[in-house]
Amino acid sequence: MTHPANGAGSPLHLNRPRGRDAWRFARQFFRSPMTTASLVPSSSYLAERMVAPIPRTGDPAVVELGAGTGAFTAAAQRVLGGRGTHVAIECNREWARLLASRYPGVDVVCADAHDLLDVLAARGMRADVVISGLPWAAYWPKDKQPLVELVADSLVERGSFTQFSYAWSRWAPPARRQHRELRENFEETVVSRTVMRNFPPAYVYFARRPRA
Ligand SMILES: C[S@@+](CC[C@H](N)C(=O)[O-])C[C@H]1O[C@@H](n2cnc3c(N)ncnc32)[C@H](O)[C@@H]1O
Repeated sequence: MTHPANGAGSPLHLNRPRGRDAWRFARQFFRSPMTTASLVPSSSYLAERMVAPIPRTGDPAVVELGAGTGAFTAAAQRVLGGRGTHVAIECNREWARLLASRYPGVDVVCADAHDLLDVLAARGMRADVVISGLPWAAYWPKDKQPLVELVADSLVERGSFTQFSYAWSRWAPPARRQHRELRENFEETVVSRTVMRNFPPAYVYFARRPRA
């Protein structure tokens, strides 16, 4: 089903949300703007960038934070093509249920991203790749431990972490703090070009090799 607001010419056309996802996002944004942080799901163009670090061979362990209605989940599942494991952590109960029904191959956990290490410990795994669709608000430290540190601890030695941010906010203090935390916790942090084909335009941080 195509959403009427999703026709060519509309900025939402870029993000081409599935079914009723545009409505789901808009409704959820007005209910909880700090947690949802976007009026629409991310575009497939941004999703392709986000999943680029997933290895194309072997059985990688992929963990997704803030999976929403599945924009990055779908792209990660396409790359995995049945290989490895894919755990998606989403705090919104309704969306966690939706994800579980859409992606039976994904281990969907309705939890706070700060529970990441417990979720992985319960499965006896560490992540090769962590993909985050989380908003800034989720990065505010809980129990004094910054989330970026938890992510670094969850990864294997040569693991990688991707996080997107909106271009308009690039020089805002929370974005600069996030970049600093990535540099402190990873040996290498690369920033992508702006993905214009997303509403709003966004860019991606690729952080690799967590510092010990
Ligand atoms: C900007 S949306 C991104 C959704 C999806 N990844 C996308 O790009 O379309 C942020 C998502 O993070 C989830 N979220 C926010 N804070 C969270 C937290 N502390 N733990 C887990 N999920 C969280 C929200 O419910 C929402 O689904």
